[in-house]
Amino acid sequence: MKIYLLNGPNLNMLGIREPDKYGSESYSTLIDRVKKHCEEKGVEVVCYQSNHEGELVDKIQEAYFEGADGIVINPGAYTHTSIAMLDAVKAVRIPTVEVHISKVEEREDFRQVSYIRSACVKTITGHGLMGYTEAIDYLIGAIK
Ligand code: DQA
Repeated sequence: MKIYLLNGPNLNMLGIREPDKYGSESYSTLIDRVKKHCEEKGVEVVCYQSNHEGELVDKIQEAYFEGADGIVINPGAYTHTSIAMLDAVKAVRIPTVEVHISKVEEREDFRQVSYIRSACVKTITGHGLMGYTEAIDYLIGAIK
């Protein structure tokens, strides 16, 4: 089983950016944790972060061509703006879980829209970095 873990803009700044909302742990800590978790579960994981919308679309398409079984994605602010990422997830038809570190539903009005959500099999919000491993476990359960 192969999973793509994709993070959008500013998620490379974890630990530095707004720690009251996103915690004090870094992006590399997140990736180390995800890789360890996947190794324990016997899952291959490809981790990728970009600040650029088109690069994230390219990576969603790559997941298809590389035969990924699932995608875990935190699109960051593109959640609230990107029809291109929605279309990409719809195009590849790979089970995708949307993750947000913060509880977006309790934040500003402009964060209440998620374009990608309608193409996702599940959304996890407000569980901090644990949300990512929860998403992986969900996909393992759903796909096996
Ligand atoms: C976020 C929430 C988004 O609204 C924000 O733009 C982010 C991070 C989260 O993980 O809580 O960059 O996706």
